[in-house]
Amino acid sequence: MRKPFTRKPFIAGNWKMNKTVAETKAYIAEFLPLVEDAEADVALCVPFTDIAVASEALAGSKVGLGAQNVSWADKGAYTGEISAEMLVEAGVKYVIIGHSERRAMFGDTDKTVNMRTIAALKAGLIPILCVGETEQQRMTNKTNAVLRKQMKAAFENIAVEDAVKVIIAYEPIWAIGTGKTATPEDAEETCAFVRSLFSRVYKKVAAKKVRVLYGGSMNAANAKDLMAKENIDGGLIGGASLVVGDFVKVVKY
Ligand code: PGA
Repeated sequence: MRKPFTRKPFIAGNWKMNKTVAETKAYIAEFLPLVEDAEADVALCVPFTDIAVASEALAGSKVGLGAQNVSWADKGAYTGEISAEMLVEAGVKYVIIGHSERRAMFGDTDKTVNMRTIAALKAGLIPILCVGETEQQRMTNKTNAVLRKQMKAAFENIAVEDAVKVIIAYEPIWAIGTGKTATPEDAEETCAFVRSLFSRVYKKVAAKKVRVLYGGSMNAANAKDLMAKENIDGGLIGGASLVVGDFVKVVKY
């Protein structure tokens, strides 16, 4: 059943470091006909090396193409980085920024997350901005403080017209790739809190527009209950996006 408000559901697959070019082609060929009638906005966030072939395969379809990181700089001596302009030219529409794996293993900080978000918006990309707490932080009641700090820093120096374009993904780190999904009630409560943080800076009207996703072991079995919640506008799906049949079930929760 449709929820009585206007934010369009958004379901994005995050392939992480999975799939070769050949696997990407095969996946998309199978996936597209199955999601033509999906009600949600759908995106696939693929590795950089799959972008060219995915862009070609998704052209003219309703599935948007996403990347998994973007540089804060326009160009120059940044070995290993990819600029927003490069992504746009390659046909990318969305970009995941500040995923907990990048924060934990590749040195992303609240500051660089903010810089990447600004660069993405400047180039016309839609950031999928990730925030979330560790298990330790949740157990010691620090979730709200952690989210407050991440949200404040991420949106520093971003005007409301740009801020509402950002899609926020609340991803409790303890739920990512663990099979331990947050209960729909807990996920709803925290997504509502994230929205309230947004509304403190950008006011209520903007906060009603911004999309907040849940991520963390979301799958075919739990998507419907999560998506029924008022403040959960979609999902960022890792493991369950790797197999076409599984992801289609999430897209059509
Ligand atoms: P998961 O990953 O669905 O495998 O838990 C979600 C994410 O990290 O975006």
